[in-house]
Amino acid sequence: MRHFIDTQDFTKAELLSLLELTGLLKAADLQRALPPLLAGASLGMIFEEPSTRTRISFEVAMTRLGGHALYLKPGEIHLGVRESLKDTARVISRMVDAIEARTLKHATVTDLARYATVPVINGLTDYNHPTQVLCDVFTMLEHRPAGKPLEDLRVTFIGDATNVCSSLMMICTQMGLHFTHCAPERYQAPEAWRAIAQANSAVSGGSLTLTDDPVAAVAEADFVYTDLWWWVGQEAEIPERTAAFMPRYQVNDALLAHAPAHAKFMHCLPASRGVEVTDAVMDGPRSIIYDQSENRLHAEKAILVAFIGPHLKPRSPELSQWHAGRIADFLKHHPLAEPAPAAPSQKV
Ligand code: CP
Repeated sequence: MRHFIDTQDFTKAELLSLLELTGLLKAADLQRALPPLLAGASLGMIFEEPSTRTRISFEVAMTRLGGHALYLKPGEIHLGVRESLKDTARVISRMVDAIEARTLKHATVTDLARYATVPVINGLTDYNHPTQVLCDVFTMLEHRPAGKPLEDLRVTFIGDATNVCSSLMMICTQMGLHFTHCAPERYQAPEAWRAIAQANSAVSGGSLTLTDDPVAAVAEADFVYTDLWWWVGQEAEIPERTAAFMPRYQVNDALLAHAPAHAKFMHCLPASRGVEVTDAVMDGPRSIIYDQSENRLHAEKAILVAFIGPHLKPRSPELSQWHAGRIADFLKHHPLAEPAPAAPSQKV
């Protein structure tokens, strides 16, 4: 059973095939011609934190593919409380065809995958956000300079070493792109992440650069990406984080003036407008943030089709008709059956 927990679990060829599938499904969906590839399938969506994009994109993707999604909001089910994670994973697996989970701790999603008997999809943890970055690379392919190969693209992430930064660093270096993380030294990617990204680059031909100089970091960038400077639980650090990042690491027009004219701006959202990025950049001509958000929907469809599809039994209209007849016969005679209403009398 394969899960979608970390892009590191996949080869470059497998990731490219997911990107290609995303393109096929997007083209079909935009023409309202998407085949019901997941007809009758169900996705359990567990959220330990709120979500706009992840929740909506997965639910709409399931609906458009002919399936159904259940939103299990924070606190709605037993998840390691009053019931073991193993029991929860096993029980949910008996009722749905896949589980999407946004969990506070990365270990929770890996434990779900260990015990589940259906595919588990990571919808963000404190370590990574693989569904987001699959969509991000797809968006880069759509917006890259004409004719520029994927492997020549340069991506600069400015800001805190967030879970999105981690995943973007991994997928870019895995696929041969050139990735720069720019932040004050104490907020740069930790050594463990760098080791993975450097090992990826050694195989793919990509590269990893770490710098505290934002002007140099954007100088050759095709894509400039940022994310929040603090997350839930880091509120006590807001003053020191603001002092460390503002104003030097804010993505604003003055900084982007040092980037190539074609460079695009990306943000996974939600954004703190006026903090890590200005309104002028968010709403400006370089911004591709809403294309990026929309592409979550198309990338989720590819992940769902690739991971659920192979486990669904083929549907047989003949078999379905045979069962329908058998059940209808039973229902005519079972103990709770009500007598058929008398035929209306005919007036003469
Ligand atoms: N980018 C992202 O995952 O957004 P949500 O938190 O709204 O799902």
